[in-house]
Amino acid sequence: MKAKQLALGIALALASSPVGAGDSESAFRGRRIAEANCADCHAIAQFDVSANPKAPAFRDIGKLRPLEALRRDLRGALFLRHAVMPDFEPDATQADDLVTYMKSIQD
Ligand code: HEC
Repeated sequence: MKAKQLALGIALALASSPVGAGDSESAFRGRRIAEANCADCHAIAQFDVSANPKAPAFRDIGKLRPLEALRRDLRGALFLRHAVMPDFEPDATQADDLVTYMKSIQD
């Protein structure tokens, strides 16, 4: 019973999100990646504050650079420019998921 209600809740949440169904799965994975690898410095949600004041909030990244270009730049180039290198470098799918997630939370 409870599981059914939960599943319905999730289905509704996904249905009402601004991105398509495949995108919402990707955004969900991106959120998990961000929580695990980026949240030490960046604000990764809609109302949080970056732990590292120099790290831009993910919801503002779209103002700093085109998010589509970020799909490519998240791998390699951008990470080499990071002031403090994170221990994690996303592969192509993870970069895609991160950008899809960022798109879903832009201000
Ligand atoms: C140890 C701290 C730290 C971690 C962890 C970290 N970042 Fe950053 N990031 C920064 C700082 C500081 C800046 C701003 C200055 C700079 O580029 O070095 C930044 C900048 C950025 C920018 C904007 C760069 C630009 O030139 O527009 C992006 C995009 C970004 N980070 C993505 C990520 C992603 C995705 C992750 C997780 C996979 C991550 N960061 C993890 C500290 C961090």
